[in-house]
Parts: sequence; C-alpha cells; structure tokens
Amino acid sequence: MDASDWDRRYAEARQWSVEPNQTAARLISALPAGRALDVAAGEGRMALWLAAQGWRVEALDFSAVGLQRGQQHAAADARVSWRVADVRTADLGERDFDLVLVLYLHLPRADMRDVLARCAAAVRPGGHLLVLGHDRENLSRGVGGPQEDAVLYDTALLGEAVDGWQVAQLEQIERSTDSGTAIDTLLFARRP
Ligand SMILES: C[S@@+](CC[C@H](N)C(=O)[O-])C[C@H]1O[C@@H](n2cnc3c(N)ncnc32)[C@H](O)[C@@H]1O
Repeated sequence: MDASDWDRRYAEARQWSVEPNQTAARLISALPAGRALDVAAGEGRMALWLAAQGWRVEALDFSAVGLQRGQQHAAADARVSWRVADVRTADLGERDFDLVLVLYLHLPRADMRDVLARCAAAVRPGGHLLVLGHDRENLSRGVGGPQEDAVLYDTALLGEAVDGWQVAQLEQIERSTDSGTAIDTLLFARRP
C-alpha cells in the first residue's frame, strides 16, 4: 500500500485503538523519558502515550491523514512533532534518539532491512530500539495482518539490525485479538 492507499484508509475511519500497544508500553515504562522517534506512527497511539509519559516524540509516517488524526487528538501536545515522510528515503539522523520504535510497519524484506539498519543508527549509545510486527507464522496459525510472506517478520530479520547490541527480547509473541490469537515478532534491544 502506498501513501494514498493509507490516506484513504485513515480517511474512512479510525483504524486502531487510541490505547498504546500493551507489550510496547510495558517495555518502555521501565525506561526514563527522553527523545523518541516513532517510525510509521499512523494515528499516533504510541506517540500520544509516550508524550503523556514525558517523552519528546517525533512521529513519522507517510500518511498525512493518519498523522492528522493523532494531531487532532485532545491528548496531543507540543511534546509531539508530526512529520510526513516516507521512511524509505527520510533522513532518520544518527544517534539522536533514546528510543526508536517501529510498530507494524511492513515493507518488502530488502526495504525493511535498510529501514531497520537506519532506525538502529538513529539510536544513541545506551538507547533502545523496539520493533514489533506480524510474524511470518501468523499466516499459518494467527489472525489478521498482511497476508504476504514477503513483508512479514521473523526473528532473524529483526536480529540482523542489532548485531553486538544487548538484546533483551527477540522472540515470537502471541497477542489476543477479538478474532483470535495473532503471532507477532518482538525485538527490544539496547545499543551499547
Ligand atoms: C499498520 S499501521 C501501524 C501504525 C502504528 N505504528 C501503530 O502501531 O498504531 C502501518 C503504518 O505504516 C505506515 N507506512 C507504511 N509504509 C510507510 C513508508 N514507506 N513510510 C512511512 N510510513 C509508512 C502507514 O501509513 C501506516 O500508518
């Protein structure tokens, strides 16, 4: 899906809950607030939650309509800057962020590898990278998410981005949804 497809989808209706992803929120809660980059932030559920926890957040997405939903939310404040950009070409900076998070961004594997490498480069020494998305096994035993193997995650793909880092979690996890159990891949790692 390109930016106009996502704009159309967001224009039709709110897509995701305004609640933060619970796994990501639990892991981030243990960190001191700092500067965060939310890559593919969508309607900003994580960016808004992070700001409420005292983080300064850059929320990046190529859907202007998705970001506008977050921006219009009552909880939005000056701690979030909303940036319309394609993550495949955007400058993400070098060692600028205490936390970079990427939730449910699904791109063809070569693009995803490149994006993850640049996300990792944007993390400060001592900072964290958190990536969470649909696992390849979701196709055979999970529900929801993209139905193309070529854009789904596995632990090998996510692990490549953090060679030499302190990896706290790199694993498949299960997530309960209204339509059944979804299989996700989770990476949470600290840059030395
Ligand atoms: C499934 S949504 C997830 C949104 C958000 N991370 C969340 O968990 O609520 C995927 C998001 O990725 C964004 N996206 C997809 N490809 C992108 C790209 N190349 N550059 C920037 N954003 C992209 C879409 O616009 C969409 O908002």
